Amino acid sequence: MKKRIIRFGVIGCGLMGKEFASAAARWCHLTDMDVEPRIVAVSDPVPAAAQWFKDRVPTVENVYSDYRELLADSSVEAVYCAVPHHLHERIYIDIVKAGKHLLGEKPFGIDREANAAIQAAIDAHPGVIVRCSSEFPFFPGAQQIIRWVGEGRFGRIIEVEAGFWHSSDLDPTKPINWKRRTATNGDYGCMGDLGMHVLHLPLRFGWKPASVRALLSKIMEERPDGEGGTAPCETWDNAILACEVKTADQQFPMLLSMKRIAPGHANTWFIRICGTAFSAEFSTKNPKQVASLPYEPGGEQAWHVADAPYRSAYGTITGSIFEFGFSDSILQMWAAFCDEIAHPGKMRQPFRCATPEEAADSHRVFTAALESERTGATIAIDWRN
Ligand SMILES: NC(=O)c1ccc[n+]([C@@H]2O[C@H](COP(=O)([O-])OP(=O)(O)OC[C@H]3O[C@@H](n4cnc5c(N)ncnc54)[C@H](O)[C@@H]3O)[C@@H](O)[C@H]2O)c1
Repeated sequence: MKKRIIRFGVIGCGLMGKEFASAAARWCHLTDMDVEPRIVAVSDPVPAAAQWFKDRVPTVENVYSDYRELLADSSVEAVYCAVPHHLHERIYIDIVKAGKHLLGEKPFGIDREANAAIQAAIDAHPGVIVRCSSEFPFFPGAQQIIRWVGEGRFGRIIEVEAGFWHSSDLDPTKPINWKRRTATNGDYGCMGDLGMHVLHLPLRFGWKPASVRALLSKIMEERPDGEGGTAPCETWDNAILACEVKTADQQFPMLLSMKRIAPGHANTWFIRICGTAFSAEFSTKNPKQVASLPYEPGGEQAWHVADAPYRSAYGTITGSIFEFGFSDSILQMWAAFCDEIAHPGKMRQPFRCATPEEAADSHRVFTAALESERTGATIAIDWRN
């Protein structure tokens, strides 16, 4: 099969930049892809971060300490940008203005104002494909729930709960990093870090909160600064958002939670939808399992828990009896992004990566949540402007 090669630049060679390198390196895992990413250029001001790519990614032709040099490289067609949140606005805008396709990391701007500036640049460059990283909906169990929602299986929705929970910050000896500082992570705190993951599917299903009452917690007051002293922990550790969703024909509560300190939970992403005709739940805690409860009036109410087969959005060499994991979800997300660049409007499967509009919608929710925390009130979210 003739393959379209997309020449990628990576801006930000940290944790997530490396995850892309790993996904690109195991592209042969995917079957029947007529498109493939090739990482040809990287940029990071920290030499050791760029050196990791130099040492391990043989396709890298150029290493730039200044990302603007990478953007001036006309051989680079698309960019993955994974940098701290305070840099999203400037760098994403420059990428889009340079005419390169962009998979950007969430939250797509440190605050709503930064996000609006990014959106304005995207609007001015409609030929550029821009998507926001969010990989968990590519787990087969989540894909199954997406199909059930598409089939309208749930009847009248009773309630929805979705969340993303971490636990490593329970350890008070964990040193501080940029994700716990307001200047680099933003006022959203854990919502900016984890919130897009939680909102991606509800927003894709059209479940925009009409209002939100937020309870935000700061649990750790300080952490080791890595230099023998301590530094204040400025950001929100946990967020619980009680939302009311109103669609054309439904009205239901939706509880969203983003937790940096959820004891025992290492990267637990979940969604539970309860309806009068059908209920379903998937959690990465048990990545093989999908639970569902079909209901007929007067009938039995029994949860069915099945091991979901490895049935991913894009075909792979892995047999259906094997397990799907985090790095598989990253690979699938990359397949979707490259598929969309190669076949705009005609992707091989229907689930596209999170859009800038969905990222902008998440900012509305987080901004309202901050206001709710400040005032103690339930905040209405106006989706008209
Ligand atoms: N999708 C996910 O599951 C997921 C997981 C973790 C983080 N993230 C997101 O990814 C982004 C980066 O997070 P991370 O965990 O990879 O952080 P990180 O700290 O591991 O890496 C960030 C890198 O950006 C580099 N950098 C800083 N300034 C730069 C500049 N001007 N030009 C180029 N590079 C620069 C840093 O030197 C560092 O190597 C954030 O937006 C974060 O929210 C997403």
